[in-house]
Amino acid sequence: MDKLDRYAVVGNPIGHSKSPSIHKMFAQQSAQQLEYVTKLVALDEFSVDVKRFFAEQGSGLNVTVPFKQQAWDIATGLSDCARLAGAVNTLWLKDGEIQGDNTDGIGLVRDLISNNSYQLVDKKVLILGAGGAVRGVLQPIIAQRPSSITIANRTLSKALQLRTIFADIYPLECCEYSQLDGPYDLIINGTSASLSNQLPPLADEIVGPDSCLYDMMYGSQTTVFNQWGKKLGAKSCIDGLGMLVEQAAESFSLWRGVRPETAAVIRSLRKELQK
Ligand code: ATR
Repeated sequence: MDKLDRYAVVGNPIGHSKSPSIHKMFAQQSAQQLEYVTKLVALDEFSVDVKRFFAEQGSGLNVTVPFKQQAWDIATGLSDCARLAGAVNTLWLKDGEIQGDNTDGIGLVRDLISNNSYQLVDKKVLILGAGGAVRGVLQPIIAQRPSSITIANRTLSKALQLRTIFADIYPLECCEYSQLDGPYDLIINGTSASLSNQLPPLADEIVGPDSCLYDMMYGSQTTVFNQWGKKLGAKSCIDGLGMLVEQAAESFSLWRGVRPETAAVIRSLRKELQK
């Protein structure tokens, strides 16, 4: 029997990654024969491990914390989106060169548009946070042509750095949390505050009855950010589970040339989470 095409998700830690089960569902559903495993890599061995994986005919890698920037350094071919993101979550080999892309932003946008019927065009968008997660999703959001994008961050200088990086493609507005002028149509939480059940210091006035809140995090319970939005009567409060599945679908599609169906996979993961 021919050897199966090999894929893996690389990170440290990696034990709780949902990527193997997501990609196994995609493979089953689209009748693709492949293997997908987790790969724990030592903090100083990322580059060596990745090069060995491809030298040994590995087909593709997803990359997660803390290696996304190192993956960007290794990739010799980068998509425009990945170049601006400064981070890569998908690697594969083409004509002997390591290609890199970042599918997080397209995953977020697809989740909004396809799974939640939410269009970004002409919307007044607020993004909270200015770290790697936010930089990673900005280009695909910009490509949807919202009327404005404001980046608010605790450390204003980091938001201003993003404005400089994206200046050629979009005029990002930057401010501190206390300076926000809402309500906003769409508020995306890209801070890591949710991880510690915290909220950035936000005035209730930034949420209106038509606001949509999107937390890039997810969990078994409604996130603190989405609890806040619900309490204020926001029209919808979405968490990042759909984004997780959609970014995986985009990686799968880059590797296999087949776009998987995501709805059933999202339902299945949601059920698992709520057990
Ligand atoms: P990531 O890769 O998840 O983006 P990061 O680059 O460390 O991680 O960025 C974390 C983001 O969450 C930053 O915007 C950080 O704000 P600062 O730049 O001011 O540090 C934000 N963040 C983390 N905890 C926060 C909290 N409790 N309140 C507000 N912002 C927070």
